[in-house]
Amino acid sequence: MRTELLKIIEGGLEKNRDKVQSYTQLLIDKLRAEGDEKFANRIKNILEKKIPHPVYLDEFMAKPVDQDSRLEMVDVSLANDTSEQIVLPDLTKIKLDHYIASLKHRSEFVKLGLDLPESLLLYGPPGCGKTSIAHYISQQTGLPLITAKLDAMVSSLLGSTAKNIRRIFEYAKERPCILFLDEFDAIAKSRDDEHEVGELKRVVNSLLQNIDNFNQNNILLAATNHEKLLDPAIWRRFSTVIEIPKPPVTEIEKLVQLFLSTIDCDFVQDEKKLFKVSALLEGLSPSDIKVLCYNAIKTTVIAEGKTVTYPQFIYQIYLFKHTEKDKTSLMRYLNENGVTQAEISKQTGISVRQVRKMLKDEEGKIYG
Ligand SMILES: Nc1ncnc2c1ncn2[C@@H]1O[C@H](COP(=O)(O)OP(=O)(O)OP(=O)(O)O)[C@@H](O)[C@H]1O
Ligand SMILES: [Mg+2]
Repeated sequence: MRTELLKIIEGGLEKNRDKVQSYTQLLIDKLRAEGDEKFANRIKNILEKKIPHPVYLDEFMAKPVDQDSRLEMVDVSLANDTSEQIVLPDLTKIKLDHYIASLKHRSEFVKLGLDLPESLLLYGPPGCGKTSIAHYISQQTGLPLITAKLDAMVSSLLGSTAKNIRRIFEYAKERPCILFLDEFDAIAKSRDDEHEVGELKRVVNSLLQNIDNFNQNNILLAATNHEKLLDPAIWRRFSTVIEIPKPPVTEIEKLVQLFLSTIDCDFVQDEKKLFKVSALLEGLSPSDIKVLCYNAIKTTVIAEGKTVTYPQFIYQIYLFKHTEKDKTSLMRYLNENGVTQAEISKQTGISVRQVRKMLKDEEGKIYG
């Protein structure tokens, strides 16, 4: 049974479901042969619960490919592949929850004659969660997410992009799923754009037609950072449009707590300090905030510390936000944000005496 166990571990690390599944089945058979029926059944239960029906997986095998480059044009991720936590402003969250609830109650709506297409357009600045939300919706509805890969789909050959769009919609129509057109502006740009007349018109017209004919049982999601570039006719094709904005301070507080939740931290429980930190992070995207928090964790681990500290975090914010990294402006920043001179000395490796002197000289420059 050792071989089976090793193969299952390998399969897990490689995210190879087929491998995990087939070696788990072999393990079950061996356990049964040895008379351990109870343990074999326990494993069997997990296998049946966690791994979707194999036919279901097979259905997604023959992905559409671009005929010129031979690249696959879609990525398929199954509903249980991800489990990310998303922090959103209250109103945005309400809108999203409402949309998800209507997906879940769709069959009841249809019975009442409300046979409306449920399509969602997400727009907003980069790194604020649009792609994560698409995965979250897939997880919540239990439907696989088919993400169109634009690099493979947008072809330089005349007419090929429109053909590729049609093939992707046809592929998605054949199975219960969510079709996700990420970076949507690449194919939905306004037809008025004077630089790209002929081919662009063809692409957008084909897109509009495909959206209109998209099977009522399927769900279309699209996301863009450049909503202003979208063709005006696109907007009304979506039953729900949600802006995903940069987070306000209250949401930044939650993001900082989330991203630092795996380590001890001396300021997340301190209301004032948490607010201070979050106010300094205003204007950044959740993705930036995640990078910054992870940098703070990494620095702590490298220094063999156990706790992310307030001075260290302010230091990280400075590094993230400033390009001019001279010592005086760093010290001034730390000082202005409530880091003591002793802590500044610890963070920067400069003696307390010198820190005091440099700050004093600075003050002299400003006020004197
Ligand atoms: N609202 C959020 N809550 C929690 N984490 C978030 C949020 N937004 C982004 N993240 C984190 O940042 C990473 C990048 O976010 P994501 O790719 O979803 O952004 P996006 O809006 O699709 O960006 P882009 O416009 O560049 O495609 C995610 O993996 C996630 O960890
Ligand atoms: Mg994205």
